[in-house]
Amino acid sequence: MNKRETVKTESVSNCFQLGKYKSCTDSFRGRRKMLPPVIVVFVLISLARGENPAIQVTLTDKGLQYGTHVGAGWIQDKLENITFPDISGEFPIGIFGSVGYTLTDMTITKCDFPEPSVEFYQNSTGFKTSISGLSVALTGSWRTHYGAIHDGGSFNMAIFSVDVTSVVELGKNPDGHLSVTSVSCNAQVGDVDIQFYGGVSWIFKPFVHHFKDRIRGKIQDKICPNVEESIVNLEDHLQAMNVSFDVDPYLTLDLPLTDIPVVDDSSLNLGLKGEFYSIQTHAEPPFKAQSFSMPAQPGYMLSLGLSEFSLNSASYACFSSGLFEALINDSMVPPSSPVRLNTSSMGPYIPQLPKMFPGLLMTLQVYANEAPLLSFQAGAIKTGFPTTVKAFAMQSNGTHIPLFKLSVDSEFSGKVWIDGGRLKGSMALNNFTLTLDVSEVGTFKTDALERIAKMGVTLAIQKLNRKLSDGVVLPRMKQAQLVNTVLEMDKGFIAIFSDVELFTDFN
Ligand SMILES: *[C@@H]1O[C@H](CO)[C@@H](O)[C@H](O)[C@H]1NC(C)=O
Ligand SMILES: *[C@@H]1O[C@H](CO)[C@@H](O)[C@H](O)[C@H]1NC(C)=O
Ligand SMILES: *[C@@H]1O[C@H](CO)[C@@H](O)[C@H](O)[C@H]1NC(C)=O
Ligand SMILES: *[C@@H]1O[C@H](CO)[C@@H](O)[C@H](O)[C@H]1NC(C)=O
Ligand SMILES: *[C@@H]1O[C@H](CO)[C@@H](O)[C@H](O)[C@H]1NC(C)=O
Ligand SMILES: *[C@@H]1O[C@H](CO)[C@@H](O)[C@H](O)[C@H]1NC(C)=O
Ligand SMILES: *[C@@H]1O[C@H](CO)[C@@H](O)[C@H](O)[C@H]1NC(C)=O
Repeated sequence: MNKRETVKTESVSNCFQLGKYKSCTDSFRGRRKMLPPVIVVFVLISLARGENPAIQVTLTDKGLQYGTHVGAGWIQDKLENITFPDISGEFPIGIFGSVGYTLTDMTITKCDFPEPSVEFYQNSTGFKTSISGLSVALTGSWRTHYGAIHDGGSFNMAIFSVDVTSVVELGKNPDGHLSVTSVSCNAQVGDVDIQFYGGVSWIFKPFVHHFKDRIRGKIQDKICPNVEESIVNLEDHLQAMNVSFDVDPYLTLDLPLTDIPVVDDSSLNLGLKGEFYSIQTHAEPPFKAQSFSMPAQPGYMLSLGLSEFSLNSASYACFSSGLFEALINDSMVPPSSPVRLNTSSMGPYIPQLPKMFPGLLMTLQVYANEAPLLSFQAGAIKTGFPTTVKAFAMQSNGTHIPLFKLSVDSEFSGKVWIDGGRLKGSMALNNFTLTLDVSEVGTFKTDALERIAKMGVTLAIQKLNRKLSDGVVLPRMKQAQLVNTVLEMDKGFIAIFSDVELFTDFN
């Protein structure tokens, strides 16, 4: 068997190992710089055409409130290091003209940052964020110049009762990216108090009132442009996000929004395309995503619905890349097996074979006739795997002699669940039939062959079940981890409900 075929055989087994898809989440790791946690949801985005979403993500109010809480802590930490732009202007000194001033090097010494309130805002298909009663104490330096006379010193400033309300709208760009735009912003600064020190600071005394109002106005005018700028930054981030992710060398996953986000007063729901394609063929499967509606679970922060279409598109992509093909030879048969892949060992099943071709090793070419499709039912997954097996005898000079062709149909059922943070599963063989299609060695009865092949498949499933019962650890990102996760199998889709733990040491 040549090298390429070896690679193929490996990826057949990889194709349905869920752990494989971890690379998707791994590739999100580069995006840590993003603003707060609502973004964790936004992280799944890309290209669309208005079809039914195969993946749905719902952020509940519980998730929003948790995200807000963590985000507020994060912002409060960041505030320490915020740098303020200088404020400069002039104040009149009667008939003597005016004195130019600059307030510079402003740093926050104390900050009373009340927890913002963030709510789903149906009116704008977005969020309404308000913060009220923010107070900040600052220190800085002042400089004045009046002609050639320069002076300077330090100051303390307190800004009281800042209220900010911002409404953002979520949408979908033509290419399926999530978009966020500012709808409205309102900022009020209640009061400002300033004390000047050093230099001839007494000169300011009569003007403190003037300063206060000017500075209050300047700060107030700066807040909304800053809020809007950070919304534009967030929007730039969202637009820069990849629209599809390569899962492995064979599969790519498209995750564009299929429609505009749905916001009601208790949740945000995003519908994502969730379709896998073969990187090589990018062929569209001959079936479509069916709509499904996620049960509301407000007790969990997030819900994720995965329709059977998503996994079936992966199956179709594997199939159309030729991944459901394998060459099996004697070296791959477990050493413990009493039956070997050689013509003499086949004697009990095909009596004429060892007589016609004595002492030759055999190979089996196994391939799926069509993409095996999964059907999700309440509590179970069912799948059928119609395959063709071609048997060859190998002569010592490498010539393959075709022997016979079999149709092998297997039906499986399985279950998946989440237990202790691991995704686990089990599988069972429901039905197995083996029929002879073509024979170059004369006809033979397939009952005994069917029994032994079924036994082989059953043993393979037992081995697989040992792995599945260990499960795979749920994907974990550097800044977020799923906790209290449950999985529910429904008709047509799997729903995962989870809380999230966010780690605020993102930098
Ligand atoms: C069976 O295939 C494997 C992988 O291609 C190869 O390394 C091995 O030599 C083959 N064994 C026989 C007996 O042909
Ligand atoms: C603030 O900046 C200092 C120095 O650059 C750094 O050591 C500190 O960790 C920063 N604090 C935060 C909360 O980012
Ligand atoms: C939403 O919009 C409607 C009509 O545009 C308005 O009557 C209602 O007060 C708005 N609701 C909120 C919470 O702003
Ligand atoms: C986005 O896609 C491009 C091209 O496919 C790739 O080079 C890049 O690494 C991807 N970026 C991320 C963050 O996945
Ligand atoms: C064929 O398999 C039998 C066991 O069934 C073994 O004894 C024999 O050595 C094998 N022959 C070859 C050519 O590998
Ligand atoms: C391989 O050997 C068989 C007989 O052992 C012979 O009939 C056949 O022509 C040979 N094939 C090649 C390609 O040499
Ligand atoms: C197994 O498949 C055969 C042929 O498709 C069918 O006749 C039989 O009823 C099936 N048995 C079960 C238990 O599904």
